Amino acid sequence: MCGIIAYVGDKYCKDIIINGLKRLEYRGYDSAGIAILIQNEKVIDKEQQDKEKEKNQNKDNNKNKDELIELIGNEPGNSSAVKILTAKQAGKIKDLEELLQGQNFDSHIGIGHTRWATHGAPTQINAHPHSDCIGKIVVVHNGIIENYAELKEELIQKGHKFISETDTEVLPHLLEEYKDGDFLLAMQKLIKRIKGSGAIVALNSDFPDEIVAARIASPLIIGIGKDGNFVASDMPAVLEHTRNFIIVNDFETIRLKKDSIEIFDIDGKLIQRDPFKVNWSITSAEKSGYEDFMLKEIFEQPFGIKETMRGRLIDGNLQFEELNMTEEQIKNLNKIQIIACGTSSHAALLGKQLIERWARIPVEVEVSSEYRYKDPIVEKNCLFIAITQSGETIDTLAAIREAKSKGAKIVAITNVVGSTVARESDSVIYTHAGPEVGVCATKTFTAQIIVMYLMALYFGKITGHIDKEKYAKIIEELEFIPNKIQLILNDADKIKKIADHLYKYRTFLFLGRLSGLPIALEGALKLKEISYIHAEGYAGGEMKHGPIALTDTNTTVVGIVPKDFVYEKMLSNIEEVKARNATILTIATEGDDEIQKYSNYVFYIPSTIEELYGILTIIPLQLLAYYIAKNLGRNVDQPRNLAKSVTVE
Ligand code: AGP
Ligand code: GLU
Repeated sequence: MCGIIAYVGDKYCKDIIINGLKRLEYRGYDSAGIAILIQNEKVIDKEQQDKEKEKNQNKDNNKNKDELIELIGNEPGNSSAVKILTAKQAGKIKDLEELLQGQNFDSHIGIGHTRWATHGAPTQINAHPHSDCIGKIVVVHNGIIENYAELKEELIQKGHKFISETDTEVLPHLLEEYKDGDFLLAMQKLIKRIKGSGAIVALNSDFPDEIVAARIASPLIIGIGKDGNFVASDMPAVLEHTRNFIIVNDFETIRLKKDSIEIFDIDGKLIQRDPFKVNWSITSAEKSGYEDFMLKEIFEQPFGIKETMRGRLIDGNLQFEELNMTEEQIKNLNKIQIIACGTSSHAALLGKQLIERWARIPVEVEVSSEYRYKDPIVEKNCLFIAITQSGETIDTLAAIREAKSKGAKIVAITNVVGSTVARESDSVIYTHAGPEVGVCATKTFTAQIIVMYLMALYFGKITGHIDKEKYAKIIEELEFIPNKIQLILNDADKIKKIADHLYKYRTFLFLGRLSGLPIALEGALKLKEISYIHAEGYAGGEMKHGPIALTDTNTTVVGIVPKDFVYEKMLSNIEEVKARNATILTIATEGDDEIQKYSNYVFYIPSTIEELYGILTIIPLQLLAYYIAKNLGRNVDQPRNLAKSVTVE
């Protein structure tokens, strides 16, 4: 996920773009860049000015300003009267802003990008915009080009030169290939070649008064201003200039000029679409109208899951090249050791159950802070997996360093490209949930669970312990999971109503068995983190060994009771606490009328395969924690005493 803004109009574009990027920084923030078109005579002025200027050392990456602000398009074969000036910086938007400080360009058309890397580290070279071979075309992109490797290979064969590690760079080169005719046509051809997701915005110095853009599954809006038009990932980028918008839909292309907007469908047919007006404030627009980032991120889960499956689950087949392991190495595994903290450790616990069930490889899970001090035994043929959404949790980093020093090979599962864990591991599997701003992990957790499902299935297939029919059934069902989560989210109001009753209770026990246990632990963690209510997650069968003493009329028990292998057992456990006068909320499978006898409140989820209930049952628990915390007036995005990534011991 990243932020894009482009402007064409009467005003100078530089400040409009930089300010727009600052408003989009919540979408990604590891590097940023801008490209603007300037007339050739202005270019000459700028070159002269530049020569006179002292070479300014850049503090971050030892490059001087002239290398970071570059005039492209001087290559032989580029006869364009207009040139492109690009400026790119690793780091935050303010670094890009500083780089451009005092430079006033006479340009009225430009594009900008704040990156949240998915392919290639967050370096200056990988920052967008990316250009074609002769510097006529520049592109910014939000999303993932699934078939980029194949396209890149094809383009290299045709003589194209690549400089970055990004998937995005294939886009300007493809546009260069399709350059005959008009630029919009090239974009229309391009979207038929790429697989994946993307909002793509491009400039071409041969078409100096137009911006061309396309959308495939990543957000893109058009802003209609008084002195020009905008295209952006999201409304906050341009709210200070306009409140009139048009949404771009999937597989549409657009051509934007200072005083015209054209939208085309997949067949290149012109579409008429009326604009609408918003009256949001900038802050509520950053949250897409949601009250908090946490709620927005909960609702983004169907998309985060699809993005995480993308490129790995293709036509019923699983691909896991990123693991960097041969089938032989997987078959020879004696053990898997997973380490993680907090929410990530709950994904690990679920992963353990799945890998053991489907691949029959023993798995140990340990919290990082314990693992690092126990003088761990690193066995031969043991795979070491570290799960951390931020990639910066100090305990997890210390644990992998400890294991590495003893000869372990490390696979990291993280949401942040270029994070420390990604750099220090032997291989990395990225969850593509998009940046998570709320302290409470929600969409990164479900993306981690998806990786666990895929990895366990992959191992199961290679070790031969999962039967073919079951394997095919699970793969098929995984494709439906985003829609099933959407159905649960559509019922968020039902959870809100339940939370309106339950927020007064001061003790919550979350009970689950098998896949319900990590979910019970996670549900309890969510609730304590943001509501400050005492909550515990327990294995249903453990209640009678102690915790049941806690239950009385002041206790709420949340039972995770889907129709899985242990349904009947969970019913008995719920009955035990009901007999002790606890108030009972159950999370159950649709059509289960029986459960109502045991519950004060029931929330139904769609049915799925037994092993896949975890990813569905957590959604209502995230919502429950959210609405209870809101009832108590808590700051859910920044709960007390907590930080998004824990970089101290
Ligand atoms: C989750 O809601 C918490 N904020 C916390 O437990 C978190 O999961 C933990 O600190 C681990 O973070 P990581 O995944 O970035 O390593
Ligand atoms: N895949 C592109 C990259 O890694 C775009 C990432 C994004 O959407 O932020 O550069």
